[in-house]
Amino acid sequence: MSRSEILARPPGDAAAVEPGPQEADDRELMSPDRLPSDRLGEAALRPRSLEEFVGQSELKGHLDVLLGAARKRREPVDHLLFAGPPGLGKTTLAHIVANELGAHLQTTSGPALERAGDLAAMLTKLESGDVLFIDEIHRLPRPVEEVLYPAMEDFRIDIVLGKGPAARSIPLDLAPFTLVGATTRTGLITGPLRDRFGLVARLDFYTVDDLVSITERTAGILDVATDTAGAAEIARRARGTPRIANRLLRQVRDFSEVHRDGRVDAKVAADGLDFFGVDELGLDRASRGVLEAVCSNFGGGPVGLSTLAIAVSEPTETVEDVYEPYLIQQGLLMRTPRGRVATAAAWVHLGLEAPQADPDAQPGLFT
Ligand SMILES: Nc1ncnc2c1ncn2[C@@H]1O[C@H](COP(=O)(O)OP(=O)(O)O)[C@@H](O)[C@H]1O
Ligand SMILES: [Mg+2]
Repeated sequence: MSRSEILARPPGDAAAVEPGPQEADDRELMSPDRLPSDRLGEAALRPRSLEEFVGQSELKGHLDVLLGAARKRREPVDHLLFAGPPGLGKTTLAHIVANELGAHLQTTSGPALERAGDLAAMLTKLESGDVLFIDEIHRLPRPVEEVLYPAMEDFRIDIVLGKGPAARSIPLDLAPFTLVGATTRTGLITGPLRDRFGLVARLDFYTVDDLVSITERTAGILDVATDTAGAAEIARRARGTPRIANRLLRQVRDFSEVHRDGRVDAKVAADGLDFFGVDELGLDRASRGVLEAVCSNFGGGPVGLSTLAIAVSEPTETVEDVYEPYLIQQGLLMRTPRGRVATAAAWVHLGLEAPQADPDAQPGLFT
């Protein structure tokens, strides 16, 4: 008898041997050649064409023209930079660009390219028309970034042999390619790099309507029975972010499978999201934690980013890139030269009493 059968037996029931139909099902679900749907992962949920890509209509329009023209001229597309908070579709767009061009996609990331040689190896491998995707391109070390300039401009790199006065540089031609860069922060991209992109596109948070479409699309792929009201409840609390909408849908589905009948309507969605600690505005424990720290630990601010990051035990980059953009967009938090400040709406949302303005406070403290 297998371990799972022993575990499945009610205590004291010596006769149970044959697994019931339900148990057989479970075992099939867990068999190694059937991936759990979560591990189907993001790749399966990614739209493959511009047409399937929901929202961001202005950006889609621009891309459509650029890709169409390049296809017509049979030339590589100009280099593209996608910027915006995590989960809005930058990687997805890189795949779509390659797909739409019928081109190969090579993927790497800023932190993975430690030395100039790492990038040179990547570039010399490219074939004509390939798309090179560099994620987190703002984290490229400077010397590596400098290799990229002539590569982007003239499809050429200079290989430097030796050191000091004896060093020689040998130019090497590259196949024409398209660079697609992604960054969570345009502010950290150096001027010279930024200028070499033909299109710098910012992805915005998605509207609730767009997120409803995305949630329904994902529900279709994962085979979850949802109605529009259920999808809307998830969309409203997804913080404007497709990746979060997909994650919340999975959590609500799990909740429904265990506590309800597996279907997702508005009530089940709301209960499931409450269960997982996602509040009315879509703030989860972690992002609410940031806001709570500003209000409770630092009297509403101003508090410096690094202090705030220590208070919530997260790297400063995560606080800045992942949590803050949505809090700012929702008007809950402000970035000021003196530090982060919670707005009146933040106190209301947390159900906390804002401190009375101190008449003796230095003028300008809250301006
Ligand atoms: N416009 C969109 N339409 C549908 N799904 C999207 C869209 N943008 C993103 N997604 C979904 O969100 C997930 C995260 O997107 P991704 O491209 O990895 O984000 P980023 O690279 O910006 O962090 C993807 O798996 C994809 O399924
Ligand atoms: Mg990505």
